Amino acid sequence: MKIENSIDTFNSLLKRRGFVWGPSPEIYGGFAGFYSYGPAGMALKNNILALFRKECRYFGFGEVECPTIMPSIVWEASGHLERFIDPVMRCIKCNTLYRADKFLQENLPDLMVDGLSFEEMEKLIKKHKLICPKCGNSMQKIEEYNLMLKTSVGNNVIAYLRPETATTTYLLFNRLDQDARRQYPIKIYQYGKAYRNEISPRQGVLRMRSFDQFELQIFISREQEMEYEDYEEVKNNALPLLDWKLQENGINKPNLISLEKAIIDKILKKPAYAYCLYVSYYLTKILGIPEELIRFRQHSLNERAHYADDAWDLEIKTMQYGWVEICGIHDRTDYDLKRHAEYSKQNFEVSMGVDPTVKEIPQVLEIAFGIDRIIYTLLESTFNVEEGRLILKINPNLAPNTVAVFPLVRNKENIRKLALKVHRELLENRIGSFFDATGSIGKRYRRQDELGTPYCITIDYDSIEDNTVTIRDRDSMEQMRVKISDLSEIIKKKQEEHNNINFTK
Ligand code: GLY
Repeated sequence: MKIENSIDTFNSLLKRRGFVWGPSPEIYGGFAGFYSYGPAGMALKNNILALFRKECRYFGFGEVECPTIMPSIVWEASGHLERFIDPVMRCIKCNTLYRADKFLQENLPDLMVDGLSFEEMEKLIKKHKLICPKCGNSMQKIEEYNLMLKTSVGNNVIAYLRPETATTTYLLFNRLDQDARRQYPIKIYQYGKAYRNEISPRQGVLRMRSFDQFELQIFISREQEMEYEDYEEVKNNALPLLDWKLQENGINKPNLISLEKAIIDKILKKPAYAYCLYVSYYLTKILGIPEELIRFRQHSLNERAHYADDAWDLEIKTMQYGWVEICGIHDRTDYDLKRHAEYSKQNFEVSMGVDPTVKEIPQVLEIAFGIDRIIYTLLESTFNVEEGRLILKINPNLAPNTVAVFPLVRNKENIRKLALKVHRELLENRIGSFFDATGSIGKRYRRQDELGTPYCITIDYDSIEDNTVTIRDRDSMEQMRVKISDLSEIIKKKQEEHNNINFTK
């Protein structure tokens, strides 16, 4: 049977191999916008998180964790209750609610919808005579729809589930200032759940109502933003930048230019912000996402979140959904700290330079990753169909299983025992090994290819005689005979080869 290299094939692999299940709860028919990860999905996610945490430490970021529910005052102060909105419109007849920008994008795929005002969107809907796909009637005017999820705590105290981790990190500001003994910039990240009441979410894990963020914040002075040591280290790196001016002229292809040139040409305003773009690019590239699928796209004034003075999305090109934002880099200025100082009546002015009498509220630069979006785009970018094999060519450091161990035949007790011994030794060396003795050897290889397992180890009749095994490489299909005693070292070395990316850290 010929296997098609199609999105349907990929989507069914994600379910079949235990990456993503849903919408959850499946046994009750599913609730839109909520998904579960199976064992393979969780293993991949944990490997991504472990890598990100290691790299964040290298870049000098500490980690915090805050509650996911906060009282109303927090969201009044942050501006989310008033301004965290999507444009929506209803059908005049059947009352179905649509997100206006997504509706336009689906109906007019060649159009650049991001950044259009409500009036501009309404004009386009009229001009192209777009109607309700359900009943064929026209639409009402576009309205604002708030994305915050409300709950009540204790004796009916209104509270909200956080729509981002960032705000909860800012609430720790005076603690962080003390903890860092006022040495700026202060670099902090938070990983955890956030919630948004998306209207009719239909893009799987890309638009969930409960999702995972990994958001890095830099608290920094105005002076440091313009003269930043860490920027000097990375400024020669070239990044694919699609600024707003290019987009206005109908250009979709980014320019590969160095950060230094982007600053000189005023495409980027602040060296410290340029450094944030670099960190996001670095973290994306070490995942193994190919360069040609990555671009940075600047937001227009209309598209920017209410807190941002400048915003660029790091986007990945996908087969299923076009360009997908996996990270937003925001210049939040002193907006958040000023508002929280005002609403909490705290003083957030601190001395950040050499003169202790000069005080200011720090600026905040943010690198906001969506972990679920990383998982989807990473999996899609590694999906291949080669001569009837479905393969996920996942970075060997991130694959759910690093190795799979197979006894060649199932009913030979000595082969099975030796295979189990090899599997346990690998686990003892903390190598993620999976033991499989079910079905034909061909089926076992296929299962592991679909899970992205980079190395499969087979124990055969010769293994009993000479203590050697075969390692089969997922991508090249080459087989190598090695001594069991050397196995763990060889696997570790192979993984290390995938640690390097070719640009400055
Ligand atoms: N913290 C930024 C965002 O949620 O997009």
